[in-house]
Amino acid sequence: MKHWRIEQVAWDRFDPARVEPSLIPLVKAAAMVERNGDDYALYLTSIFRDDPDFRQAALHWAEEEVQHGEALGKWATLADPGWDFRAAFARYRESFKINTTADASIRGSLTGELIARCMVETGTSSYYTALGEGTAEPVLKEICRLIAADEYRHFKLFYDHMKRYLARENLSFLQRLRVAAGRIGESEDDELAYAFHCSNEAPGTPYDHDRCIAGYMGRAMGYYRYHHIERGMGMIFKSIGLEPRGRLSGLAARGAWRLLQWRRGRYASALAAKETRAGVAAPAAA
Ligand SMILES: [Fe+2]
Ligand SMILES: [Fe+2]
Repeated sequence: MKHWRIEQVAWDRFDPARVEPSLIPLVKAAAMVERNGDDYALYLTSIFRDDPDFRQAALHWAEEEVQHGEALGKWATLADPGWDFRAAFARYRESFKINTTADASIRGSLTGELIARCMVETGTSSYYTALGEGTAEPVLKEICRLIAADEYRHFKLFYDHMKRYLARENLSFLQRLRVAAGRIGESEDDELAYAFHCSNEAPGTPYDHDRCIAGYMGRAMGYYRYHHIERGMGMIFKSIGLEPRGRLSGLAARGAWRLLQWRRGRYASALAAKETRAGVAAPAAA
């Protein structure tokens, strides 16, 4: 059972006057990645083939992720009626492929796979919270609140299964840290950049990772506030077995916040330079 249904969103409250133009490309790109959740579930059910409980949970999880994609895609279509969600997603799906019949986790262990999932859910939970707080458009606010609540439940789901596998596989702290840091580092790889490309650039435009990740991050990073980073750091710490609200977590959160501010400035400048040339909406002020 899903925790909410797309029909329950008050779509008639959509207010075009309150849409921040710099949010539309972010929502379009996020719709691609979320909608692709069913392929990720095939990968998960393949590598957890001997665990029927987890397979069942992964299928349920994917239903919620697909619904996130549908809701975000529907909102983006309201905000930009000329946008073709299905065509953009078909382009994304065509080229961004996950190995749905893998024999083993690309993270080296099932505990590692679940830690990586915890990192993704930490990221999405923080991100939709930040977008929901940052937008004045009532429907997007509602969708982001609903999605962020799902993402936090997903975090708890993967965390609980991870604890079960940890007892069996006994990964060391360093192994867990390596998987977590590795997955966080991948957030600027092709998955999001390519989603940005397919959902925001005209078909036929050659894909350029640096341009697309700047297009995405230059806008997205402006929505984060310190409390999002602090909460996210607590979730990361919990996933690798450290005290989520201790001194070290606070120190790491302050370091991550400074790093984010520095990178946000660099991405925003790259984006502003590109958009001055192309005449596209500039990112939201920080
Ligand atoms: Fe999601
Ligand atoms: Fe999720």
